[in-house]
Amino acid sequence: MIRFDCDYLEGAYPKILKRIVETNYEQTPGYSNDDYTKSAIEKIKNVCKRDDIDVHILVGGTQTNLVVISSILKPYQAVICVDTGHINVHEAGAVESSGHKIISVKSSDGKITAKQINDIAKIYSEDEAPEHMVMPKLVFISLPTECGTNYTKSELNDIYNACKKNNMYLYIDGARLGYGLVAKDTDLKIQDIPNLCDVFYIGGTKQGALFGEAVVIVNEKLKGDFRYYIKQNGGLLAKGRLLGIQFDTLMEDDLYFKISVQAVNFAMKIKEALLEKGYKLLYDSYTNQQFVIMNNNKLNELKKDFSFYKVCNIDEENTAIRICTSWATTEENVNKLIEKL
Ligand SMILES: Cc1ncc(COP(=O)(O)O)c(C=O)c1O
Repeated sequence: MIRFDCDYLEGAYPKILKRIVETNYEQTPGYSNDDYTKSAIEKIKNVCKRDDIDVHILVGGTQTNLVVISSILKPYQAVICVDTGHINVHEAGAVESSGHKIISVKSSDGKITAKQINDIAKIYSEDEAPEHMVMPKLVFISLPTECGTNYTKSELNDIYNACKKNNMYLYIDGARLGYGLVAKDTDLKIQDIPNLCDVFYIGGTKQGALFGEAVVIVNEKLKGDFRYYIKQNGGLLAKGRLLGIQFDTLMEDDLYFKISVQAVNFAMKIKEALLEKGYKLLYDSYTNQQFVIMNNNKLNELKKDFSFYKVCNIDEENTAIRICTSWATTEENVNKLIEKL
């Protein structure tokens, strides 16, 4: 079985495992107070071209979203995101379990617009008794989105301006940040991100690490006490050096972006083949996730050799699936898939 279900099917980029093994018997202080984590943080500051950011490396995506969001919001405040947003659909109500409402807005491509943010702010501020409602205080987006689509610099700029205008924060979930930033449908670079949001994270788990997500806090107001929130939510890893070593490796010699380019190139090869063979796409994605509508008979035939993630039923005869590539995808497997398509 060749799997294209997701981008966390394999272990870790070999160089990461090698460094973990090489440093195995070293004694280091716990809870990310080690030199590997310090070095990783310096490298993240360098790639972001910002010295004034705080960086904390957590273990997984749901945990990161929960800790970041619940640390920002007061009990009566809410987070806005699109209906397909990861926190709204795929995190078992983690955000809601912290007592915060998610205000979801409709989107056909996984993206939110500045207008939608302004509209929600208007409804809230024009209400005669706003204190009877939850206060929209944070906007959550992911880059790339759940649909594999991307924001351009100008779109992100508009969104961030709408947030600032309406006294809200902007948080970017970058679980697949690398795969997003190397795609051809965005002009954003990593150094743009800290200037266009209050907090974001650089995903590791889907980008070659065994596990780990590096939270970057830009806004001064959100920096204080963050480690308490991490700890209280079970996210402060005692052997934090494992996180540090992984990000120190990923951020060296552009590795994070080199492996992203490879994954996205394979995804583009699959996309071209799909289009050439007449398949219809559910979303127009230029990142490592491709969404295709497939006749059920063809899908069942493919499923003998390949596995995919089912997105939804389109109708009685067709199903939408996701085909994912990653840092570990091989050309041989991509060619085998294309041949069977
Ligand atoms: C955009 C995004 N955010 C967060 C997560 C959650 O990550 P985890 O499964 O590590 O909790 C995922 C996982 O697929 C994701 O795609």
